[in-house]
Parts: sequence; C-alpha cells; structure tokens
Amino acid sequence: MGAMPAIPLDRVALEASGLKKSFREREAGERHWRQVDAVAGIDLVVPRREILGILGPNGSGKSTLIRMMATLLIPDAGYVRVFGLDATRDRMAVRRLINRVSVEASFFKKLTATENLAYATGLYGVSNRESQQEAARILERLGLPAQKLRVPLEQLSRGQQQKVAIARALLTSPNLMLLDEPTTGLDPKSRREVQEFILEVRATHDATIIISTHDMEEADRICDRVAIIDRGRFVALDTPKGLKSTYGQGGDSLEAVFFNLIGSTLEQDTIDA
Ligand SMILES: Nc1ncnc2c1ncn2[C@@H]1O[C@H](COP(=O)(O)OP(=O)(O)O)[C@@H](O)[C@H]1O
Ligand SMILES: [Mg+2]
Repeated sequence: MGAMPAIPLDRVALEASGLKKSFREREAGERHWRQVDAVAGIDLVVPRREILGILGPNGSGKSTLIRMMATLLIPDAGYVRVFGLDATRDRMAVRRLINRVSVEASFFKKLTATENLAYATGLYGVSNRESQQEAARILERLGLPAQKLRVPLEQLSRGQQQKVAIARALLTSPNLMLLDEPTTGLDPKSRREVQEFILEVRATHDATIIISTHDMEEADRICDRVAIIDRGRFVALDTPKGLKSTYGQGGDSLEAVFFNLIGSTLEQDTIDA
C-alpha cells in the first residue's frame, strides 16, 4: 500500500488504527473452537466527503469492520475515531454522527415507509411535519412510487425496502454514512438508482460515505478510493484509476486488479447473500 499524504485533522471523518476483531467458531459436531480473525489489523484514514469503497468477497470482514465503525462491536485491539471521537469511549456521541444501513435493515414491517421514517426521526428530535416532507422528497427522488409510501413495508420489494433504509439514514442527517452492501440483491435498475442517490447525497449533504460491496463495477463507478479486503486485511487502497494502473496490467476494469491481488475473481468467491 502506498504512503498516504497527511490529511489535516479537521478534515478527517474517520480514522482506524490497528483494528482487530476475532470470533470463536465451531461447526456442528466439531470438538474444538477455532479462532476466526474477521478483521486482522486495519489502518485507515477517510477524509471528509470521500466515498470510500470496501470491496471484497463474502466472509472477508466487511461487515465486521463496518460494525466496529458503527460502535456495534468493540474492537479486540486498535481504535476507531469518528470526527476525532473514540468509538468505544464516546460511543453515544459517535452514534449521533453516523448512520449504518445494512442489508437486513430493521423496520416495523407492519408500518408504512412514512410511518417508519417518522418514527426514526421522532427519536432524533426532528418535527414530524418537517420530516415527512423530507421523507416524501427523498423517496420520490429514489423512484419509490407515492402509493408505496402508504402500504406496510412488508409489501415492498427488497429493493424498495433498501431505498427506504437509505432514506431513513439520510433523514437523521448523519455526517458519516456506513452502507453495508446497500445494493446487494437489487435488480440492475434499482442498483443504479441507489448508486445515483449515494452520489447525490454526498453532493448535497456534506456527507462522508463508506460503502461495502462485492460489485467491482459499483466500486469503480461511485467510489473516490477503494480498499480491497481479503481475510480481514486491506491488500490495496487507492483510487480506482490508481488500482488499475498499479495492479490491472493496463486493463480498464477492477476485475484484473482483484484477480492479481487475491488470486480469484469475485464471482468465483462470492455466492450472493
Ligand atoms: N458474530 C460472529 N460470530 C462468529 N463468527 C463471525 C461473526 N461475525 C462474523 N464472523 C466471521 O467473520 C468472518 C468475516 O465475516 P463478515 O465480517 O460478516 O464478512 P463479510 O461482511 O465480508 O461477508 C467470517 O468468517 C464470518 O464467518
Ligand atoms: Mg457482510
């Protein structure tokens, strides 16, 4: 990994250093526990307003890393700082600055999108009227038909529910958005819409966005920099262009980069969750 130019501290959204997390695992019938080093020593500095991609196959540590950034898991070693605040010691303050969107977004499935968003923002002290107008605007922008706002969430497709999850994250005006595979399982059109929306959010909300994905084209298209993660470690971190010129053998896609670094393609490695 190349040396990173120093970023002035007030321009850093997130900093991670020496970050590690292991789990103990035992398969049915096995006698002994095995240690899985899900995150095995990660250092990272993310400047404000960056869209950083974390690209890697299933099981490479993406969600564990994001959960530590989101204060949901306590690191075994190292630290995460969000706008200078320690994610373990200043947990509540950090939570106000971030929002995580995961594949399995938690909603009240019997309530409508609008009701879910109002509930979420009510908790954060935004007035209902204001938040409902903003919710309607965001969901419309995301291509969610207006009548879909009024039916229980359980009647929406996975793609539509994912859009509601992103809208909910936006409503609480997070400075740092952590998107854990927000487009996995979406059809190509919805995936595009979500990607466009992420770009718009960055442009309009002064947001910093960390997004995990196993879609190379997505990483290439929307990320300023991409970290390639394999077995809990970053094996490369650079702009898509930089990655291609260093590891891509003159090719124009991240596919060759990935193959050269990891020795397999993402398609071989990844069974869609
Ligand atoms: N709560 C947990 N208990 C045991 N093992 C876990 C737990 N969470 C993740 N792991 C293991 O850690 C590794 C990384 O998982 P994860 O961070 O979910 O990867 P990814 O999001 O890239 O698919 C995997 O081997 C996974 O089985
Ligand atoms: Mg994951």
